[in-house]
Formats: sequence, structure tokens, C-alpha cells
Amino acid sequence: MATDLIEALEALEREGVSLIASAADADALEAARIALLGRKEGRLTAIMRNLGTLPAEERPAVGAVANRVKGVLQERLEARAAELEESYAGAAEALDLTLPGRHTWRGARHPVTIVIDEICAVLGSLGFTRVRGPEAETEWHNFTALNTPLDHPAADMHDTFYLAPGILLRSHTSPVQIRTMQQHRPPIRVVAPGMVYRRDPFDASHAPAFEQIEGLAVDEGITFVDLKATVAEFARRIFGPRAEVRFRPSFFPFTEPSAEVDVSCLICGGGGCSACKGTGWIEIMGAGMVDPAVFEAVGYDPDRYTGFAFGMGPARIAMLRYGIPDIRHLYDADLRFLTQFA
Ligand code: DAH
Repeated sequence: MATDLIEALEALEREGVSLIASAADADALEAARIALLGRKEGRLTAIMRNLGTLPAEERPAVGAVANRVKGVLQERLEARAAELEESYAGAAEALDLTLPGRHTWRGARHPVTIVIDEICAVLGSLGFTRVRGPEAETEWHNFTALNTPLDHPAADMHDTFYLAPGILLRSHTSPVQIRTMQQHRPPIRVVAPGMVYRRDPFDASHAPAFEQIEGLAVDEGITFVDLKATVAEFARRIFGPRAEVRFRPSFFPFTEPSAEVDVSCLICGGGGCSACKGTGWIEIMGAGMVDPAVFEAVGYDPDRYTGFAFGMGPARIAMLRYGIPDIRHLYDADLRFLTQFA
């Protein structure tokens, strides 16, 4: 009978409206939608399956009620969905804005890292490739292959941290020269930054762990002129166009001849001040022509190849550049100090 179906539809409308109103969250609302209007198992579908039992002339009246009820329920579903969404947003708005904020820190490069990256970029533009070597080294790579016998005074100078017999924390980055030459044939142009370790007291100008940057160029026909030109260009690019360099004779076991390189004082421009102790010059690196004994240690023919090498301390350069009076500031990991250079 048409009236039975219409009654069933009106019951569906009443119950449906209250079911929707009581849905407490999006999941409950979706469950209500499926129970009421779901295409296969929903109550509306179940009622309308009986439409075919009615005489044809009664069907339109029932169909009209069904459409109206479906429209009402859909409208309520949408309205309830909007309501639920708003109450979530309302919960967010109800946050206690008087609570103190949570501080987030912005990362910053360490001043020594800034200097290392810049030096490697300048040398990179001169054709040097950045490489690395291990911090735990063999005695052979750190000393012997670098023409430094273990009873040599230079081995004493590097008062070294030993990890095991024959294994140590590298006391300089020069062993990366050896590893590079063992792995590659000339031409070679590499720059090798990294940490080195010495049993030095931790004071204003010494740290037991600090960075070095090693440079090495090897090919046929390389001369001291190439070393001087490279270092002079390097100094101008790092310290400014008016920076001058001078080479003082020195000694390192792995270079011959050897030199210490000074740059004209950035602070007084060469006139003499407290930064350069009145001399007008500040030492920035050790350098020299690769000793033939080093080539022999890695199996290069010293009659065919020549090369130059240099080593420097980027922490010292950072101190010069930023006017930092005590090296310990660089290794104290105090963010109030370090983030100033970002
Ligand atoms: N390895 C030396 C040191 O730690 C620095 C150095 C001097 C490196 C001269 C070099 C060089 O490559 O040619 O004191």
C-alpha cells in the first residue's frame, strides 16, 4: 500500500534527522549516511524496493515523498559535516595564546666551516678538487711516507695521540697527500680540509683538535713559480686585492725547499700593529716543493714529476678575519658566540 511506504519514508526522515544530529564526528556521520542513503543496504533503498508492488498510478506520489526525504537527509548530512568541521577549527582557536612560545633555532655554519668552504671554493676555481682522508691514520701515512722517520725531531714536534701500535689520530692533513697519490696518477690538484689532533695544551692559541687544509699539485714541469703564483692569487681572493705574500725559508721533511708564507697584515696594511706584533706580516701557511723521497714512497718517478704542497689552519684565518682573540671561543660550542657569524 502506498500509505505504508509513505509512513515508512516519514519514519526514515524523523529517525534519520536525529541520527545525523547525534553523529559526534566525521566517522559517525559517514556511518549514518551509509545506513540511511547507502545505495545497496541503506534504508531508503530498502523501502523503495517495494515501489514495484504498487499499482502504477500510486507510484508518483510515493516517489515524490522519497525524493523529498532524500533531499532533507542530504541537506542535514551536509549541514552536520560543516558543523563538525567548524568545531575542530574552534578547538584550534581555543588554544591558550598566553602560553609562552616554543623557541626554534635557526642553524648556522660554524665560522671555521665558513672559512674552509670559502678557501675550498677559491682553490676549486684554480682547479683543485676537494678530497678527504681518515682521521685515524697509520704511522706510515702520517710520518714515514712523508719522509719523517719516527726518530726524526719533526715526529717529536707532533706530540701525537696514539690509538694502537702503529695507528694514531693524524697530526696533520699531509697524509692525505700520500693517500691521493697512492690512488691516482698525475696530474693531481687536490685540497683536503679536515680535523687534526695534537697533544697540545688548550690555551688561547692552541687546541688539541683543530682543522687544517692541505693542498697538493703534482705534474710534469711544476716549479716554485707555480706555488708562488697560486698562493699569491689565493691570498688576494681570501684577504682582499691588496694582500701581499712573502715566503720565508723554513723546513718541513716532506718539502724541499720549504717555506713559511706570510700575508701582509689585514689590520694595519703592513705598517705594524698589535695583530701582527709590529711586523706588518702574519703567517698563514707552510708550503714547499714535494720532496723526491715522498714521490718514491708512493711509487712516482721523481725524475719525471715535480709538485708543490701547502698546509694551513683555517681557525687561525677565521680568528684573523673576525678579530677573535682566543681560539677556545671557536671550540667552546657556545651558540651565543657561534651564531653571530651566520
Ligand atoms: N703539515 C704541516 C704541519 O702540520 C703543514 C704543512 C707545511 C703542510 C708544509 C704542507 C707543507 O703541505 O708543504 O705543520
